[in-house]
Amino acid sequence: MGRPARTTRASRSGKFPSRLTASREAAKFRALATLLVVRQPGVRRNVTTQNHYTFGDSERAARRLALLARAYEAPSRRLLERFAPTGLELALDLGAGPGHTTRLVHEVSRARRTIGLEASERYIEQARSTAPPGVEFMREDVTAPSAAVPAARLVFSRFLLTHVSDAAGALRALRPLLAKGGRLLLQETAALESRHPALARYYELVGELQAHYGQLLYIGRMLERFAEQAPYSVVHSTIERFEQPARTMAELHLDNLRTWRTDPFAQRTFDPTEVVDLEARLAAVVSGAERAEPVTVALGELVLQ
Ligand SMILES: C[S@@+](CC[C@H](N)C(=O)[O-])C[C@H]1O[C@@H](n2cnc3c(N)ncnc32)[C@H](O)[C@@H]1O
Repeated sequence: MGRPARTTRASRSGKFPSRLTASREAAKFRALATLLVVRQPGVRRNVTTQNHYTFGDSERAARRLALLARAYEAPSRRLLERFAPTGLELALDLGAGPGHTTRLVHEVSRARRTIGLEASERYIEQARSTAPPGVEFMREDVTAPSAAVPAARLVFSRFLLTHVSDAAGALRALRPLLAKGGRLLLQETAALESRHPALARYYELVGELQAHYGQLLYIGRMLERFAEQAPYSVVHSTIERFEQPARTMAELHLDNLRTWRTDPFAQRTFDPTEVVDLEARLAAVVSGAERAEPVTVALGELVLQ
């Protein structure tokens, strides 16, 4: 009793599956949605937040976020250019990490002052060391922001809600951060699709890991549903689809796998041999030894006011 069965290649999907079928993906999605509704926040403590941030704040995790920032700069810049209000005194970036999105928000919005809110002290230190004039950082759990955070007419958040265990609750808690007439811009992953077996399998495992902590890997497809439970009106809602080079995605995932492989749930649930194989195959895609078609990324975008 007690220990869940290990996820093995043979028992779950044969050798690495080539692609999730639509019905399996839908079933998985429903299961994850149910988990999100029934689980309570506060599963485990990490940094200052009650939510478990699975991807860490080590040097490796920070390097991954720098790569992530380059890979997703274009869609975030487009969203900000289109929807950020003008003449801003203040903008906020929620879940700022080491500050890449905060600097982007500041540059594109031309706010006089931009504050990045982040739970990790390590990321805050890094972010402060590279902050241009006008950019500041505060250590905050954005799912329960303190009264010290001023309200702003632009609040931006990318890849944060996927790491919280009660997204609807978080959206409600954020409401006071939005000044009258202001806009909340959200971007979250809605799908990651690859025919490459290692990439496809990676997405399954990371989805399972996040689900264990009550989180949704593909929360980008549910943003509007969560927002309905909070007092906002929808200005814009879409799912953008584009391709990312498999090499870039494999590099992101390799750093991530090397971080989360020591997670207690991953260690007791995933087959260690499979994780080693997966690491080797992702590394082969990164080095170019193994060819892979680009990954199709679907990015959920929601603008609320
Ligand atoms: C995937 S990173 C995204 C960083 C940045 N927004 C970007 O897109 O490059 C998520 C960040 O959110 C932070 N985070 C997670 N939960 C948080 C919370 N409740 N309050 C503040 N920050 C949080 C993590 O520490 C991490 O730095």
